[in-house]
Amino acid sequence: MTRVALAFSGGLDTTVCVPLLEEEYGYDEVIGVTVDVGQPESEFDEAEETAEALDLDHYVVDAKAEFADLCLEGVRANATYQGYPLGTALARPVIAEAILEVATEQDCDGVAHGCTGKGNDQLRFEAVWRDSDLEVIAPVRELGLTREWEQEYAAEKGLPVEGGSGGDWSIDTNLWSRSVEGDDLEDPNYVPSTEIYDWTDEPTGESEEIEITFENGYPVAIDGQQYEPVELIEYLNELAGSYGVGRTDVMEDRMLGLKVRENYEHPAATTLLNAHETLEGLVLTQEEREFKQQIDQQWAKKGYEGLVDAPLVDALEGFIAETQKRVTGTVTIRFEGGKARPVARDSEYAAYSAEHASFDTETVGKIAQEDATGVAKYHGFQRRLANGVLEDEDEDESEPVELATDGGNVDDGETGN
Ligand code: ARG
Repeated sequence: MTRVALAFSGGLDTTVCVPLLEEEYGYDEVIGVTVDVGQPESEFDEAEETAEALDLDHYVVDAKAEFADLCLEGVRANATYQGYPLGTALARPVIAEAILEVATEQDCDGVAHGCTGKGNDQLRFEAVWRDSDLEVIAPVRELGLTREWEQEYAAEKGLPVEGGSGGDWSIDTNLWSRSVEGDDLEDPNYVPSTEIYDWTDEPTGESEEIEITFENGYPVAIDGQQYEPVELIEYLNELAGSYGVGRTDVMEDRMLGLKVRENYEHPAATTLLNAHETLEGLVLTQEEREFKQQIDQQWAKKGYEGLVDAPLVDALEGFIAETQKRVTGTVTIRFEGGKARPVARDSEYAAYSAEHASFDTETVGKIAQEDATGVAKYHGFQRRLANGVLEDEDEDESEPVELATDGGNVDDGETGN
């Protein structure tokens, strides 16, 4: 008796996979697994109803907490890919792991997904599954199925499909983002109707401020009230969404090289990412901030690829953890006009001195304005050399350039000082 676990949503693709896994792949039994990463209730109802109609053994696994934790690692890494905070991408390894666990518990011989051969999700799922020795099956890709073929096949077989819930768009929703693609949105020059949005309202003239508390780069409280990650994200999606925060419309470069137009909503992600980067601006040194951008970009790339357990990510997170030791404090965000704008920040670790930076004080400690004169004389020195400007100041052009210095000896720059 052979058994296969199918990543199941109750949509057209995964529904046609059920009979196909028996007919085309010779499995005796198919079980469906739906993993909860914060989809709306209606999606579970759809999965449940379809599974029942198919007489499919159906498992629902709650992985919200684990997924929320990963999203907050993304916050510490300021993670976005081409403006997209990676909701779908980060959810895939979590879903794949959960399915693999059920498959192992239920003695399955294979695991299957309903992804097409054009998207990123096939790669993300399989990266996890190919760590196991279960057979990995992608019926839609392997059998070259099209939507029309699936619709005909479903009608012929009397499969319970209503052609999808969200109109003609393809929608993927979880805690961190809601993405809408396909149909009329495939024309990059088409202005989307507001109907594509579900989490965000049209911005009004209203505004509101909240204070977010971070501990070691993790958001832990809003307006002084502590929240667990799942609740914190849900709360902010609701609140920031009501101010129209977190809409993006991007031409996304997929892993296979295709460019696809994607529309996203991610109010909580936008709010938390803005707030986090703002706090880093207060506590990190210039060189930490600059270097961290490269680290963050690599983290986001691995996140996009669904490879968050790659050794590189562990190494990047080592650096990130070191910097986040001081990312503790508060940021005030003002929701206004569809934006989550940071308007204040505070931390006991601020790498900042109001006294030194102020325009109002003349000398503070040992530093006076005129101390900058020497620095100003050297600033752009090589540029002057290269542009031939310094030669003009020189009497005898064959002699090396001499600078008026008070003590410090500057040569032609070739000593590397
Ligand atoms: N392009 C995004 C990604 O690869 C999201 C795709 C979501 N799928 C959808 N049917 N809208 O992460």
